[in-house]
Amino acid sequence: MPATCDVVVLLSGTGSNLQAMIDSFKGVDNPVRIRAVISNRADAFGLQRARDAGIEARVLDHKAFEGREAFDAALIELIDTFQPKLVVLAGFMRILSATFVRHYQGRLLNIHPSLLPLYKGLHTHQRVLEAGDSEHGCSVHFVTEELDGGPLVVQAVIPVELNDSPASLAHRVHAQEHEIYPLAIRWFAEGRLSLGEQGALLDGQLLPASGHLIRI
Ligand code: GAR
Repeated sequence: MPATCDVVVLLSGTGSNLQAMIDSFKGVDNPVRIRAVISNRADAFGLQRARDAGIEARVLDHKAFEGREAFDAALIELIDTFQPKLVVLAGFMRILSATFVRHYQGRLLNIHPSLLPLYKGLHTHQRVLEAGDSEHGCSVHFVTEELDGGPLVVQAVIPVELNDSPASLAHRVHAQEHEIYPLAIRWFAEGRLSLGEQGALLDGQLLPASGHLIRI
């Protein structure tokens, strides 16, 4: 087994994805160690989840900085004190500068509540219902300079039911996020997942444009 992979998690809110990681990476034989959780919001419940799990929790308030570049520079400095091999965005509701994204090229993952490239941005569940789609889901991807873009690693696809509401869809999509994010992080930690010139590679093979597909 390769050396432990230190991970820093960035979040802004509830942190249910962080909780799924904490629960998934509990065993002694797991390759992932969450070194720190950083939030741009002091009231993010995810910080409490980190503390409860004995993980270092830090706040870096974006409002204390003059603009995106200054905040991102401070964020890089803070993250790098933990020397992570991987940085994971788990509901970190900030647009990241090109400088930030380039600094962590190939070791920055994000999760998004839609089947990317569909429904970038916010209110994805509502938009899926308005469009009358029969399928919805979530995506883990490497982060590039394009917002909610970047090579896909894994997607979970769920059917949209006739009586679904944004809340019921959010609930079922969240449950899938909690499966696919720990899976992708584990792949990375085991040295199986990387970012190549043409896209995401799993076990040295180029993944399809959709990433690894899981149909529920
Ligand atoms: C998740 O649904 C995640 O996909 C979304 O924020 C939520 C965070 O939930 N991220 C984005 O929309 C990024 N564009 P959590 O705080 O309970 O993990």
